[in-house]
Amino acid sequence: MTLQTTPFAALAQHPLEQLSAQEVQRARSILADAGLVADTTRFAYMGLIDPPKASFSGNPTHDDRVVRAMLWDAAQSRSLDVRVSLSSGLVIERRELDPAVDGQLPVLLEEFGLIEEILASDPQWIASLAARGLVPDQVRVAPLSAGVFEYENETGKRLLRGLGFRQDHAADHPWAHPIDGLVAFVDVETRRVNHLIDDGPVPVPQINGNYTDPAVHGELRTDLKPIEITQPEGPSFTLEGNHLSWAGWDLRVGFDAREGLVLHQLHHTHLGRRRPVVHRASISEMVVPYGDPSPYRSWQNYFDSGEYLVGRDANSLKLGCDCLGDITYMSPVAADDFGNPRTIENGICIHEEDAGILWKHTDEWAGSNEVRRNRRLVVSFFTTVGNYDYGFYWYLYLDGTIEFEAKATGIVFTAALPDRNYPYASEIAPGLGAPYHQHLFSARLDMMVDGATNRVEELDLVRLPKGPANPHGNAFTQQRTLLTRESDAVRDADGAKGRVWHISNPESLNQVGHPVGYTLYPEGNPTLAMADDSSIASRAAFARHHLWVTRHAEDELYAAGDFVNQHPGGSGLPAYVAQDRDIDGQDLVVWHSFGLTHFPRPEDWPVMPVDTTGFTLKPHGFFDANPTLNVPSSAGSHCAPTSQASGTGAAGPGPGGGTCGH
Ligand code: CO
Repeated sequence: MTLQTTPFAALAQHPLEQLSAQEVQRARSILADAGLVADTTRFAYMGLIDPPKASFSGNPTHDDRVVRAMLWDAAQSRSLDVRVSLSSGLVIERRELDPAVDGQLPVLLEEFGLIEEILASDPQWIASLAARGLVPDQVRVAPLSAGVFEYENETGKRLLRGLGFRQDHAADHPWAHPIDGLVAFVDVETRRVNHLIDDGPVPVPQINGNYTDPAVHGELRTDLKPIEITQPEGPSFTLEGNHLSWAGWDLRVGFDAREGLVLHQLHHTHLGRRRPVVHRASISEMVVPYGDPSPYRSWQNYFDSGEYLVGRDANSLKLGCDCLGDITYMSPVAADDFGNPRTIENGICIHEEDAGILWKHTDEWAGSNEVRRNRRLVVSFFTTVGNYDYGFYWYLYLDGTIEFEAKATGIVFTAALPDRNYPYASEIAPGLGAPYHQHLFSARLDMMVDGATNRVEELDLVRLPKGPANPHGNAFTQQRTLLTRESDAVRDADGAKGRVWHISNPESLNQVGHPVGYTLYPEGNPTLAMADDSSIASRAAFARHHLWVTRHAEDELYAAGDFVNQHPGGSGLPAYVAQDRDIDGQDLVVWHSFGLTHFPRPEDWPVMPVDTTGFTLKPHGFFDANPTLNVPSSAGSHCAPTSQASGTGAAGPGPGGGTCGH
């Protein structure tokens, strides 16, 4: 069978287009034809496998569309990892997992409610609630991924752990009322409670957590005047299929149920040269480990990508004002538990933002006074995973800078405080605790700086002592250390040394004869805070270091491995770098861990203002000079004052024509 003659392959206009509803249906029917879909089968994940980088042609009739599906069958207790070719209509790979060794498939959508249902009819749970004066109808149960611990009788079982919260009415936010001293470990396959810890009633905090209740927020302020962003000539980007072009940048906007946004083939064109920068960029994993050692919570750590699929859980941005300005939406498709397509209406937001001053100088000698404004292209989505909401924002700037920013908001996970000086949680409201925790991400950056031959150097500030070569002691320099093997390239940030990582192409030199490059600027926040011999340190090993560099390999996609749910550990980056491949002048993947260590504040309650974390990739010798000299100055009419600074409220056209660099 030749792919060229298969009509289905042509449904995608480009091999890197997003998975379509028709393709989800076709993948499901191929699996059904192969006898792999029973009534009891659930689809834990479905997504596209990229065409191999080395043989990628960009031609939809040559590059096959391959779909990966993870199938869970509770009736047969069977987990399958399957690949199908949409072009040939065949199952091309099929593997059965051993849950005790390989871990479990991701948490299903239907399991979010299942744990509550199972517990509602469990005599022990009912008795524990009764001892607290509660009945199951009053209690919501968070479906929490189990991790891997030494509890009895858990090996090989598909588990969720449940913590209860009292809900006072249908619209009540139960996070205000944690039911402490009680946790249930539930086998979601046999639908039975595997183990229950109940150390007796603890007072349930009596807080009103309903932030839209006037009794909580008080009178709404009336002093905020509208801000309207208008782009009378439309935005400056174009989107054809999933090919996005803007101000010298072009890329393919991908989306995956597990990773969310995936940026493919990010190129920059300047002075007529179109050059690759990143082949594929995504957030390959994120984990939220908690630092409270109490028996009810010491197991709390959620891999929001590998266990809960942040892309599948993406918000539909139809109602709110997530983005401001002239917005273009894309509506990605994910599979539901039954393998049917589910379109996330307006799941991806694309827009352009003013980004302050780009450059400015007043030169008294030359008599010049110039200012240019910066702007950025924003490609983003928001996802909700239980109590937290996360924004994933990719920014491209006029000067070649690439930024990623995660926005964390929503509601902090709560607990009752055993005492007011408890060292592992903040008291965020009277009697209400919020355990310390981290939000740790892994960006997978398949680099392509002016081609596939790349290398990574670590750049450190070096202070120098006074001496014959440094008589006044003012000298300092920069030390460059080439990372030559994967084992050398497991690195940590060092703020005191201004440490950055420079990714360059030794085969492409700039006008001063140096390899063209991009530099990764880490925030350098704390890495994983848990003990080195803890379960989470082995399962989230990626988060123990800020930087990992691997040789590109098609099947090395996820920082914590392919199957994260209840995986015992050691998978993903530690396994990848154990090969200790040569990374000097090779096709490289740079993995960057970053995130927030969250000691919650009272101000994070009852809903948390956005906190941010991310990283920056800046061109460093990639261009021969500032690449934004060709940006024109802004038209005066778009930045002149329109109201008097004296604050009299008189509005009207200002004098115009002034400078506008504020
Ligand atoms: Co937090």
